[in-house]
Amino acid sequence: MSQLLSANKMDKIFIMYNQIDLDITYIVNPNESGNFLTIDELEQFAPTVVEKLQLLKAGLGDNKDGETPMLGWQSLPEEITKEHLDEICQVTSELSGKIDAFVSLGIGGSYLGIEATIKALSHSFQNQLTREQRNGTPEIYFLGQNTDPDYLNDTLDLLQGKRIGVNVISKSGTTTETAIAFRILRNLLEEKFGDKAAELIIATTDKNKGALRELTNQKGYRSFIVPDNVGGRFSVLTDVGLVGLAMAGIDTHEFVAGFRFMKKRTDTEEFWDNPAMVHAAVRHLAHQKEKKIEVVATNSAAIYQLTRWMEQIFPESEGHDGFGMWVSPSMYSEKLHANGQMVQDGERNLLETFLRLVECERDMAIPVDSENADGLNYLPDSNKTMNSINQLVIDGPAYAHFIGGVPNMTINIPRRNAFNLGQFYYMMERSVAISGYLAGHNPFIQPGVEAYKQAMFSLAGKPGFEKKQQEITEALAGLARKII
Ligand code: PA5
Repeated sequence: MSQLLSANKMDKIFIMYNQIDLDITYIVNPNESGNFLTIDELEQFAPTVVEKLQLLKAGLGDNKDGETPMLGWQSLPEEITKEHLDEICQVTSELSGKIDAFVSLGIGGSYLGIEATIKALSHSFQNQLTREQRNGTPEIYFLGQNTDPDYLNDTLDLLQGKRIGVNVISKSGTTTETAIAFRILRNLLEEKFGDKAAELIIATTDKNKGALRELTNQKGYRSFIVPDNVGGRFSVLTDVGLVGLAMAGIDTHEFVAGFRFMKKRTDTEEFWDNPAMVHAAVRHLAHQKEKKIEVVATNSAAIYQLTRWMEQIFPESEGHDGFGMWVSPSMYSEKLHANGQMVQDGERNLLETFLRLVECERDMAIPVDSENADGLNYLPDSNKTMNSINQLVIDGPAYAHFIGGVPNMTINIPRRNAFNLGQFYYMMERSVAISGYLAGHNPFIQPGVEAYKQAMFSLAGKPGFEKKQQEITEALAGLARKII
């Protein structure tokens, strides 16, 4: 498959310098074992974790959505073919030539991984660059992830006068936020191009069923498939993610190679050789020690979106039956000047995970100042660059928060490339799957998300929801409503 995994010398060197790792130094503290973990505890727990990995690998355990076992993501890295990736690239490069802006419509798992990957691997202000500076790729926008009319209108303002292509992504095909945004975009395109609008629309949805599948068949949209056995939040390596990434010019072959590489690493049943098992074990044991909030902090604005992806995959998979750890995405050092006081000194219910970007793309020197009024000349004098300071916004808090009683671990991401991101996603997917099994629930379903939908549909007067609407009206009447 990817040339990256062929055995030539260059690839070996590339792989050697591009392996993400997990540092748990500040998780372990035998002197404070009520608050931190000990190596003994981890070792005693290891056989249980190995057993959960074995269940997952064997396709066993509580993993079905309806009748379907939702473990397709596990073998996906090895199943994706070069031909399929090439086909996606062909479709996106054909469409790319016809458009100035590409709008990806979706929410949750049909949105977060695509945006996170593109942001992690692009210029911070990608859409403001010239097309040439973007290596020929169109501007990329996201809609359907909320229902805010101002945000929608503001995005449409930016799209005025531009040739637009759309990828509507919805596995169920009925998600309200995505469907409304698609109506609006489709109307715009159909008003302008009539039947030819279909040439500018890609639909990524279930292969047989759902409203979007029906519309796709009826209108003849180019379509890609969300596999039955892969849930939304595990779908970044399916067509859900790959189409958008290819449109953004991201090397999808390298991305798959990263997934494959981490699959191998996390298939091993040797506890200390498997970063996903150690990660899952640390989080589970920390939760048992009352760590109910996980601050996930990064030193890279580009990587920050990965913390938002984690904010979905962990709580949506773990938050069942009164269990779960809240994930709080943070950009350091910005957040250290906001809630940093509380991390250092507040209630000790925190676990902290750093996503450290080790090597930036373009480092900068810190200027020497002849006046030295701010006293910072010691930095350039000791050859400190911006990136060396940016490493310290992880090293400093990691130590200080450890001393302050916050167990913390670091996932080191060597640099921003598709190979490293692929590794990262697979490691987290494996970890959260193990975590659900450790907690004793099915991490691949999200029945809790239905409750808000039911209430929203009822309040909107959706036909068929009259009983629920009545129930809500009565419940509200029974509340002492106070608006001050
Ligand atoms: O992880 C999940 O399953 C969810 O976040 C879904 O991806 C999200 O609700 C969007 O669903 P759909 O693709 O059916 O529109």
